[in-house]
Amino acid sequence: MDQLLYLLEGNEAEYLRDRAWAVRSRIYGNAVYIRGLIEFTNHCRNNCYYCGIRRGNSHAVRYRLSDEEIMECCHLGYGLGYRTFVLQGGEDPYYTDNRICKLIKSIRDKFPDCAITLSIGEKNRESYQRYFEAGADRYLLRHETADMTHYGKLHPPELSLSNRMECLRNLKEIGYQVGAGFMVGSPGQTARTLYKDLQFLRELDPHMVGIGPFIPQHDTPFGNCAAGKAEMTVTLLAIVRLLLPHVLLPATTALGTIEHQGRERGLLAGANVIMPNLSPKGVRKKYTLYDNKICTGEEAAEGLEGLKKSVEGIGCKIVCDRGDYRL
Ligand code: 5AD
Repeated sequence: MDQLLYLLEGNEAEYLRDRAWAVRSRIYGNAVYIRGLIEFTNHCRNNCYYCGIRRGNSHAVRYRLSDEEIMECCHLGYGLGYRTFVLQGGEDPYYTDNRICKLIKSIRDKFPDCAITLSIGEKNRESYQRYFEAGADRYLLRHETADMTHYGKLHPPELSLSNRMECLRNLKEIGYQVGAGFMVGSPGQTARTLYKDLQFLRELDPHMVGIGPFIPQHDTPFGNCAAGKAEMTVTLLAIVRLLLPHVLLPATTALGTIEHQGRERGLLAGANVIMPNLSPKGVRKKYTLYDNKICTGEEAAEGLEGLKKSVEGIGCKIVCDRGDYRL
């Protein structure tokens, strides 16, 4: 705990990043894996205090992509070199298990050499099992915080940390490559809660960990809260790389949003995944989890050429394959 505090205060930052870079290099070389992110619905039944697409945000302009539009995103992405599609959305009851399974099967049929990642929230074990059997490979579900009291400050009472953890355990048991993670600098976060996050990650031993700064969204209860710091996000990325050497670790859009070249800084500190936006351009601005989210230029799936150059500029290389977890 004292050591974590010492590192979070910014001590030994360079040493930490260098160690994380070295460990990443030993296991994954200089490869950076890309995932095409398809934000297919911003309807959500939940009311998380930090999130711009929460149910209570009446200013959010809601949309859903049709199956055809989603397939078109995959088609475009495939042409650009993407071999992982991430279907992310709010918890939208319109997408019943049957609809989700149908969608997964269509993508699986059409793009047999691609990984399918889901990021659609908390479901019961049977649903997770059905998606897996339909052909989904991976599932992202950030735990958000491993401290129960802190969890209660970020979420309304109907959501619980114990259910979140149960979901993550179920996903892992079913056989998914699983991603957990948290925001840095979310309201109420302390060195103690972060310590618990790291302990939880060590126990869960996920294949992926998503870490990005909290960024306020003006129509949420946390609209006036301060954003998380890039510096601390980068430090935590490095710590997670050292704690879980084989983990797939994205340099997140949120990190790129709060700081110019934030994602490059993430890569320099042990991250090895980037998830460009593959959603149709017309809806990108509507998927506003937080303010000023970047969604054009190198952040966009079609900005791959530019991204390749900046990644090469720091000694890494974009690799166009599934980028599975390496044992
Ligand atoms: N700032 C940063 N990240 C956010 N997320 C949701 N709202 C915000 C915000 N305001 C993250 C959550 C969620 C992921 C999809 O996006 O951690 O799990």
